[in-house]
Amino acid sequence: MKKVALFASGSGSNAENIIHYFQDREDISFPLIISNNKAAYVHERAKRLHIPSYTCGKEAFENGEALLLLQQNEIDFIVLAGFLLKVPERMLQAYPQKIINIHPALLPKFGGKGMYGSYVHEAVVAAKETNTGITIHYVNENYDEGQIIFQAKCAVLPTDSPDDVAAKVHALEYEYFPQVINSTIFSTNT
Ligand code: GRF
Repeated sequence: MKKVALFASGSGSNAENIIHYFQDREDISFPLIISNNKAAYVHERAKRLHIPSYTCGKEAFENGEALLLLQQNEIDFIVLAGFLLKVPERMLQAYPQKIINIHPALLPKFGGKGMYGSYVHEAVVAAKETNTGITIHYVNENYDEGQIIFQAKCAVLPTDSPDDVAAKVHALEYEYFPQVINSTIFSTNT
């Protein structure tokens, strides 16, 4: 049984989608959700899904409390599903090649500190890109720089607003993120 922790800073629609995707599986479970924001809607989703959720701020990540929580729940793998904090070195060392993230653009373009949510889609539209998409990658000590696992693309039309782009990108996330999590967790000798 693989025990997977989900980290989300905001709405948590990806987290919910992932949980639904795996709900009938016996070989993977999601014992907890961690958010750095106590007001994040992901806590509401967790309640509805009967999954314990916790708020761990920057301090709890830096002082090891968040890592202890993961170890107490025998977590094998961590999925960042819209998580805005940088993962501290100690957690990266405890989970080598076992933390993955999704970014709503085709890295290395439109990544890095401050590039999240609507800021990404606004930058893509402003740059008059003809396509965008998602990148799923291993997490390392820098934002959005880990080894890329998977990318999927969608077209950006000249008439697309950032919200139109966001809708297309979310559709890719919901379609591919659970599948990539599945192939990543069950293909490595984790
Ligand atoms: C997604 O667009 C994801 O690519 C990015 O953060 C957003 C999270 O959205 N990392 P949600 O909280 O899953 O709805």
